[in-house]
Amino acid sequence: MRKKIVAGNWKMNMTYAEALSLASELKDLFKKQPVTISTVIAPPFPFLCEIAACFEGMEGVSVAAQNCHHEAQGAYTGEVSAAMIRSTGAQQVIIGHSERRQYFTETGEQLLKKVQQALANELTPIFCIGETREQREAGRHFETIAQQLNEAVFHLDAATFSKIVLAYEPVWAIGTGLTAKPEQAQEIHAFIRQSIGTKYDAALADSTTILYGGSCNTSNAHQLFACPDVDGGLIGGASLKAIDFAAIRKALN
Ligand code: PGA
Repeated sequence: MRKKIVAGNWKMNMTYAEALSLASELKDLFKKQPVTISTVIAPPFPFLCEIAACFEGMEGVSVAAQNCHHEAQGAYTGEVSAAMIRSTGAQQVIIGHSERRQYFTETGEQLLKKVQQALANELTPIFCIGETREQREAGRHFETIAQQLNEAVFHLDAATFSKIVLAYEPVWAIGTGLTAKPEQAQEIHAFIRQSIGTKYDAALADSTTILYGGSCNTSNAHQLFACPDVDGGLIGGASLKAIDFAAIRKALN
């Protein structure tokens, strides 16, 4: 059975003290929940060490970075490598988030390199794909998703691809309060799984974890997670409130 995961993407929010306080609140809430729910917390880079230390030893809970650079090391002022991230105790890295694609013009080619850097450093990439509102309105959502897979992660061989997690995040639903309807999420998740089956094989398609992201909250998480091809969520806004994120986490159980 494939792994179900709930992940919180804190984005560029909070000061150090606020981040520590949220982590400690989450820790207390998680202690009251079943330990079987795999949970990922993605704080900003400067807090990775501390937040990883905070959750150390807590079964099923791990920490992710929100991005990594596509080169191993060198003269890239201000950038952060996958090796650095791994050395903080983080175990995953979000790659290809639509905000990175949009505001930092990250290309498929760069994203593939980032995935390779992550894997070379024993970080699990959480690779994001998703169409914009214009693409959906033009009926080009399937085509967009296929292209995002083809230009990056479908270059991996099957054994390598089996190490990644995918996240479908329709850009029109991120931070907008417009969630994909469960049928819309299911339709795309099934398409992604089918595409993996065609590119690789049915067993790999079946074992790939595909998360949904985009205005997932305490009111809609149950319905979204009930879709057969939705294996959990990548949560932005609602992950900044401990009680909400813990409730969403519980909805996955
Ligand atoms: P949101 O963000 O939950 O605030 O829509 C999701 C994401 O960008 O990962």
